[in-house]
Amino acid sequence: MRYLLGLDIGTSAVKAILLETGGHLVGSVMEEYPLSTPRPGWSEQNPEDMWQATLRAISGIITKFAVRPDSILALGLSGQMHSSVFLDRDQEVIRPAILWNDVRTSAQCRLIEDTIDPAVLRSEVCNPVLEGFTLPKVLWLKEHEPENYAKLRHLVLPKDYVRFRLTGKLHMEVSDAAGMLMMNVRKAAWSAPMLEAFDIDQEILPPIVQSAEVTGTITAEVARRTGLKAGTPVVGGGADNACGAVGSGVVTPGRGMVSLGTSGVILAHLAEPKLLEKGTVHMFNSCISGQFYMMGVTLSAGLSLSWFRNTFVGGESYDGLTAQAGQVPAGSRGLVFLPYLSGERTPHGDANARGSFVGLSNTHGIPELTRAVLEGVAFAFRDSVELLRRAGWNGSSLRALGGGARSPLWKEIIASATGLVLEEINIDEGPALGAAILAGVGAGVYTSAPEAADLIIEVESSVDPNLKWQKIYAELYNVYRDLYPALKGSFDRLTQFA
Ligand code: XUL
Repeated sequence: MRYLLGLDIGTSAVKAILLETGGHLVGSVMEEYPLSTPRPGWSEQNPEDMWQATLRAISGIITKFAVRPDSILALGLSGQMHSSVFLDRDQEVIRPAILWNDVRTSAQCRLIEDTIDPAVLRSEVCNPVLEGFTLPKVLWLKEHEPENYAKLRHLVLPKDYVRFRLTGKLHMEVSDAAGMLMMNVRKAAWSAPMLEAFDIDQEILPPIVQSAEVTGTITAEVARRTGLKAGTPVVGGGADNACGAVGSGVVTPGRGMVSLGTSGVILAHLAEPKLLEKGTVHMFNSCISGQFYMMGVTLSAGLSLSWFRNTFVGGESYDGLTAQAGQVPAGSRGLVFLPYLSGERTPHGDANARGSFVGLSNTHGIPELTRAVLEGVAFAFRDSVELLRRAGWNGSSLRALGGGARSPLWKEIIASATGLVLEEINIDEGPALGAAILAGVGAGVYTSAPEAADLIIEVESSVDPNLKWQKIYAELYNVYRDLYPALKGSFDRLTQFA
């Protein structure tokens, strides 16, 4: 037997999966690490924790499935996007990584928008300027921690930091580099106008590599600590959403994906880049060389439900909770939830936006509130679908992945709110599976990622919109859409207040 290893360096854990080259998923292991919130709106992680968890995950999976080291042909990496790992001249970590869901950088975002001509911004980085992205974090470091900025010699993202520890080589893989606001997305090269405008030395940015390219090999030291064979190739891999797309077969134009994790994503694969009108749709390089994807991101998708459960009904299981929501009619008896618990990216691009239940009455209980949470996230997805449609996407289905997509009720609600068929696939391992597939392409096992994805991933069943609910949601979505503009002023004042 021959195997491929896929690693996803996530926000709460490293996930490792072992894929037999014929397409059989052998199994997976998870190793968690902490996230710290030193101040409201801040979100940080220690890169050393990611590295130690990676070592445990690799040795754990080799032991668990008793695989021979030389039967693992290659390793691929995926990871949380945008999160900055700052290294000094000795390649040591300077301070904790500032993560994708950290919103301390509003002032730096405004500075970028005031400095760069919008047309240049659009043609160079092809993306909106949002708090979570990497360049604002670098500018925050320069302004607030000049002593740390002075030490900065290398800037990498989490999976590329793990790559450095595995191989000793510093590289930035293209689908991840796309989320830094420092790369010309269409040319897949560092953007001179962006770097010059903010006086950033290109030397701190490692060379850009492709997703299926072999970027180095496992060092003798890592081999000794994990059980991997020294010299095992490590490929570029990809950003979590880009790898999630590969791992669900969303690798040809027209196909789309909904990912229902902590954050939620609606993603559409593109053969050609699009110059999007000013807005909050993201446009990044995909893991298929020379191809792209656009996506809308809702920051608190699965997080809305986990927050609700942990805060109000800690003892209840997710299945128990959604069963209660299933007893309530569509529309939650006139209750609407805005899922902006940690601000929102698409469609508002507003770090101050806040979550709300609107329409509460003394007849509402946990079942109505739960259903409103599920519906609010579905309306946020509808916002993204509308924007992708306006940008030219004309698909009629989305492949569903992520923890939240295990709920049949949530899938039916999303299908009904968006009017799209939700497809269920045979292996829902998301980004780690995509990383393993890319490893297979790099190792020469597969000729291309689209070919391998179509060999390994199948649509098994689908969830259609419920026509009765669809009518109700069409009406309620209009109410939902009016709420953010009506509440925006209050959100700003409440953020100041907090
Ligand atoms: C994408 C984004 C999130 C993180 C989650 O732009 O910020 O999806 O990648 O890990």
